[in-house]
Amino acid sequence: MNKIFKSLTTIMALGMILTAPTVLASKGVEVNHLGVNNALVRVIDTSKYLLLPVQEASDDAKINILVDGNIAETIYVRLAKSKTDYWIPFDLTPYKGHNVILDIVIPQGRGSIREAKDDVCWKAFEMSDTFDTTNREKYRPAFHHTPLYGWMNDPNGMFYQNGKWHLYYQYNPYGSKWQNMTWGHSVSSDLVNWEHLPNAIKPNGLGAVFSGSCALDSSNTAGFGNDAVIALYTSAGTSQMQSLASSNDNGHTFDIYPGNPVITLDSEARDPKVFWNHDTQEWNLILAHALEHEMLIFSSSDMKNWVLQSGFGKGLGAQGGVWECPDLFELPVQGTDMTKWVLLCNINPDGPFGGSGTQYFIGDFDGKTFKADTDESGQVPIKWLDYGKDHYATVTWSNAPDNRRTAIGWMSNWQYAADVPTQQFRSANTLPREIGLFRAPDGELYASCAPSPELELLRDNLTERLNRATIRQKARSFSLPTVHDGICEIILDIDACKSSAVDMVLSNNQGDKVILQYNPQSHTLSFDRTESGIVDFSENFPAITIAPTHEDNGKISLRLFIDRSSIEVFGNDGQFVMTNLVFPTAPYTAFSISAQKGSVKVENFKIYSMKEV
Ligand code: FRU
Repeated sequence: MNKIFKSLTTIMALGMILTAPTVLASKGVEVNHLGVNNALVRVIDTSKYLLLPVQEASDDAKINILVDGNIAETIYVRLAKSKTDYWIPFDLTPYKGHNVILDIVIPQGRGSIREAKDDVCWKAFEMSDTFDTTNREKYRPAFHHTPLYGWMNDPNGMFYQNGKWHLYYQYNPYGSKWQNMTWGHSVSSDLVNWEHLPNAIKPNGLGAVFSGSCALDSSNTAGFGNDAVIALYTSAGTSQMQSLASSNDNGHTFDIYPGNPVITLDSEARDPKVFWNHDTQEWNLILAHALEHEMLIFSSSDMKNWVLQSGFGKGLGAQGGVWECPDLFELPVQGTDMTKWVLLCNINPDGPFGGSGTQYFIGDFDGKTFKADTDESGQVPIKWLDYGKDHYATVTWSNAPDNRRTAIGWMSNWQYAADVPTQQFRSANTLPREIGLFRAPDGELYASCAPSPELELLRDNLTERLNRATIRQKARSFSLPTVHDGICEIILDIDACKSSAVDMVLSNNQGDKVILQYNPQSHTLSFDRTESGIVDFSENFPAITIAPTHEDNGKISLRLFIDRSSIEVFGNDGQFVMTNLVFPTAPYTAFSISAQKGSVKVENFKIYSMKEV
């Protein structure tokens, strides 16, 4: 039984109180203390993994992995000072047969060598041939993509090829807080079942591997072979620059381009999104000029030499925080034969409810310049892709089939992502969504985000069904499924023409509740998670989020996806969306509906239990 498993068994037994198993002496390593902040840990065993003891509240130790005396890697790990919260594996396979020494510098030196030796980590290193990634934490999602262990932020580099949806992500393999940015890799043939693959791109001398994108180079413009997968990403060392890597095995492994970096600027810029422009027959790349609040647009014929064409955004849209993770694509406008370009601009903080959010601009693009549409008053309006608090770094898949524009976002918020009550892993991605464009009754064009059709594969049993009912002030309550902690999909059509507001409440017998309220007069749906369960880990977590419902007839259709620690609300086929995390102390067990005044008509009501994937 390895460390993570032992630790998690204890978590299960004691709720969230964590007690580490007692480890008396490190096995398979020799520790040499060199001073108050420096020690060498020599690996003297031939097991596959060296298990590193982590304490979340510690500061990062800098570890140079010396292989036969040369620095092979540098990693940062919160080595345990007073207690071990969990262990993470360092894979020794690439260094088999060589001498491996960890040269460890802890951030603050201890007062004396005796004090330095007291850190619990020195006795807690372990060797193992296995690492149990089975995760038993109660808030681990059942049907959302999430790493097996460790920290995840932005999804990035996504592309589709030969029936496979590749998803890379900002990953810390060495702890559940942000650090050591690496491209983690997962793949799916249905956007629902994800296979976890070895990490794809690791930090190197140019820095950590920040967000970026992939494109398929079908006609070998870059010289790495037909159909090579080309990744462009930000190398984040002392400064940020853009790098290229190529893959000839469908994105499983990448060769770093020796001529990196391919784009340098004299100010912070990151998260390149590359795509082939069919009109201009050139590559385009859009890059977040983070602190300048603009997106830079480049073009290239070979993906190595980039020409800066223009900047978009100065003074437009939401301008607070930093601009990050751009995307740019063309879409048909529903019900017309017109197309428009959509520019996604993730912004943090200054999202719609504080912290992170995804704004977008609709306009025209000629391969060089993006020009945003204005509204009736001549202003470029601010538009948000999702009206929850937990939707960030949203970007789309390259090369998706059937002209789909499939997107996925990071289901968290930089305000509290590192403090959410999970431990072996932190963060999941949102459910995949299909972006479209529609004209709303106010005359404006908006982006819709409908649940990807594959999500219907998750449905298990129909556990509640009601064809039609009129509900007044007395709430009508429905039970949520009992299997898999109540994870479910709830579907309903609401006609609130005869009501001032409709309340929909998810609750359990611990007093936790989430209140959704549809107001047909203000054309809004609100989501109140102030009493949803554990909310006190951050003052920014308790919140009420509000979405415009873009209707003028008092009718909405909803699909709610309820996983163990998240609720995604899709309205009118994605014309409004809200993604919010929740940490109920026990699973929600009931869903009730009531009208504040008058009556509400509910039709086609269904609850499906969901499969765990
Ligand atoms: C967005 C972001 C990106 C950056 C990455 C680093 O969440 O800040 O701009 O590339 O995270 O992990």
